[in-house]
Amino acid sequence: VTPVNHQIRLAGRPEGLPTPDDWSLGEAELPEPGPGELVVAVSHISIDPAMRAWMNPVRSYIAPVEIGAVMRAGAAGEVIASQHPGFAVGDRVSGAFGVQEYALSDGQGVAKLDLSLAPAQSYLGVLGFPGLTAYFGLLDVGRMQRGDVVAISGAAGAVGSVAGQIAKLHGCRVIGIAGGEQKCRWLVDELGFDAAIDYKADDVRAKLKEYAPDGVDVFFDNVGGDILDTVMLRLARGARVVICGAISQYNATDRPGGATNYMQLVVARASMTGFVVFDWAERFPEAVSALAEWLARGELIAKEDIVHGSISDFPDTLLKLFRGENVGKLVLALDGAR
Ligand SMILES: NC(=O)c1ccc[n+]([C@@H]2O[C@H](COP(=O)([O-])OP(=O)(O)OC[C@H]3O[C@@H](n4cnc5c(N)ncnc54)[C@H](OP(=O)(O)O)[C@@H]3O)[C@@H](O)[C@H]2O)c1
Repeated sequence: VTPVNHQIRLAGRPEGLPTPDDWSLGEAELPEPGPGELVVAVSHISIDPAMRAWMNPVRSYIAPVEIGAVMRAGAAGEVIASQHPGFAVGDRVSGAFGVQEYALSDGQGVAKLDLSLAPAQSYLGVLGFPGLTAYFGLLDVGRMQRGDVVAISGAAGAVGSVAGQIAKLHGCRVIGIAGGEQKCRWLVDELGFDAAIDYKADDVRAKLKEYAPDGVDVFFDNVGGDILDTVMLRLARGARVVICGAISQYNATDRPGGATNYMQLVVARASMTGFVVFDWAERFPEAVSALAEWLARGELIAKEDIVHGSISDFPDTLLKLFRGENVGKLVLALDGAR
């Protein structure tokens, strides 16, 4: 029997949270590689907040996904056919393979994975874009220095959990902001954060005053909205506010909130900078080797939250991000599919 390639295609442009109607489950023939091409059997799909933004037909740092197209996704898998000189059958690889079981690729942006270092899913987390985002966001954009007080929102997620650990490895005092007591306890007890604030239960402003009496030197923001506005009131002189993302606003149906307290940038002589990790592509090898070394030494904990399922589980798995159900990097593992 010839296997079928199950795919998730974008069917609609959501207002607010995506609904099942925004997706269609398609079937395609198993692709055949032409000269210079390879075919990958996808094993792990990266589930990212940015996917929500890619569904919008607006100007961004990357083109929106077209209606009817296979949903864009980073993924890992195994090469099952190759006419590409750089890749052989059996190679484990990562790349932008999309939400589908088999991907045809010309090798662009495809990386070989060293599974002796870490399992495939870690290449979508600590050793993938989330890890790289934390690394360059803190060290380059945030110009983090030893002794800084670093606050991180979305702290128990893929990017935030790595960011906090990198800040600790650089001798900083780290305050995480996350939803729920369990996540906060995990940040302090397992990842070594100095303090954690449960934004769903605590008074964030009062807790920040308690944990960072002299203010925050670097704020690494994954969340935006009210949390951004509140931390802006606690900036130390010369603070750097790093805008990594604003997940609290990704499903907003009216104008996004947050950053109304921007005059605090004047008071604190602070800066606020947005960034896109792709701009550091030339330096990815440097960051991956630093992250891999910390991982190998046991100084960095890789935490993935794996949903075992099939392609058809993608729509609901994506919503877990907006419900705050993941701890660490959310990954859909396709072990049920084949
Ligand atoms: N700039 C770049 O190049 C770049 C690259 C990668 C990712 N990003 C951004 O980085 C951020 C984190 O991405 P990730 O992959 O690491 O996702 P993640 O943090 O693993 O998952 C999303 C988390 O966001 C929190 N959240 C959801 N809705 C929220 C709300 N309304 N208010 C506050 N928190 C909310 C939830 O945690 P709680 O339980 O704590 O609420 C959830 O677990 C996103 O904003 C993403 O767009 C940027």
